Amino acid sequence: MAFPLYFFGFPATVKNVIDRLFILLESPQIIGNCGTTCHPIRFDRHPKTVLISSCGFPEIEHFDIVRRHFKKICDEAGWPLAGEILISAAGAVDVPGLFDKKLNFIKEAGSAFMQSDIGRDIQEEISKPVISDRDYREMVTAALKGGITGRIKSTVIGTKAIIKSKME
Ligand SMILES: Cc1cc2nc3c(=O)[nH]c(=O)nc-3n(C[C@H](O)[C@H](O)[C@H](O)COP(=O)(O)O)c2cc1C
Repeated sequence: MAFPLYFFGFPATVKNVIDRLFILLESPQIIGNCGTTCHPIRFDRHPKTVLISSCGFPEIEHFDIVRRHFKKICDEAGWPLAGEILISAAGAVDVPGLFDKKLNFIKEAGSAFMQSDIGRDIQEEISKPVISDRDYREMVTAALKGGITGRIKSTVIGTKAIIKSKME
């Protein structure tokens, strides 16, 4: 499932799709493996899933709630969760080259997903920051402010991040 993070969770359109998956469950209420009430699973199909999301704030912690929510849905539906691709600071995606390393790891994650699960090491590489939180906040704020000063400031911060990433 792939979506941009909205208000710390699923966008309404995505949630609408999730709600329709209720058909995958039977209506009786039973005690599940975790000791709380749940519905039995209707079909004997257990497709593996991957959580893919981007967010506009720089910290990865903004995904905490949706990660828990998605895992709960997977547990209830009997879907094995094969990994997470979480990209914070999505406002920096237009800075040339800054996401190149991340994109390569995302391709690796795609291959890993086809074979089995996405390893924790690949997930961590994907989630690594490409710019400091402070620079990112200032860059996005300047870009949103616009005008010649805003554009110059955001370009300067972006260029600084590109140079830093090339030196790593
Ligand atoms: C209605 C709305 C709510 C948002 N809520 C959050 C949020 O809670 N946390 C966050 O980091 N970014 C939030 N964002 C930013 C989006 O997650 C970000 O723009 C998106 O991941 C970028 O992907 P896109 O280019 O496909 O829109 C929000 C954006 C919108 C429009």
